[in-house]
Amino acid sequence: WPYLLSAALGGYLLGSIPFGLVLSRLAGYGDIRKIGSGNIGATNVLRTGNKLLAALTLILDSGKGAFAVLIAQQFGSDAAVLAGAGSMLGHTFPIWLGFKGGKGVATALGVLLAISWPVGLIACATWLLVAAVLRYSSLSALVALGISPAIGWYFAGPQVAQLCAFIAVLVFIRHHANIRRLLRGEEPKIGSKKKAEP
Ligand code: G3P
Repeated sequence: WPYLLSAALGGYLLGSIPFGLVLSRLAGYGDIRKIGSGNIGATNVLRTGNKLLAALTLILDSGKGAFAVLIAQQFGSDAAVLAGAGSMLGHTFPIWLGFKGGKGVATALGVLLAISWPVGLIACATWLLVAAVLRYSSLSALVALGISPAIGWYFAGPQVAQLCAFIAVLVFIRHHANIRRLLRGEEPKIGSKKKAEP
């Protein structure tokens, strides 16, 4: 069990690095939590107008989830799953930001790609497809991660399906304001700099 605890804790600590916040500060945009939706993720970093910074946020936020899983995989599949779940908790509830973190989408995609690449690839393809057609980042994430437990079950079995279900629940909880805006027809589309009121 020391391995399992270290995997979960290590995953949490890696996941809790708020790359969106750090990069936007370094690039001179100040606190990203005061821009757009106030979220620290790539979609909101894009609202600064800096596509490179948004892409970097996406890569690093996904990368930390994937990295946590890949390291823990050396200690078996239980450790990998716990590291993945830990990194999701770290990103969404980071100790450094008073437990007010991001929405977990990029990190989830990284975790899924590392834990089972077909599941990750289908989740990414679903995100891209919904985003290409409807232009809502949040809705794309809700669809991609909402179907992930079924995809996980089919391609990788019950353990990965359980992780996907945990991720999906977390992502839905963190998108409650987006869901309300989507239902009211007030969710800003990708790239729009409109302020998303809660
Ligand atoms: O990645 C988070 C995305 O699904 C929504 O972000 O900033 O539009 O609330 P945001």
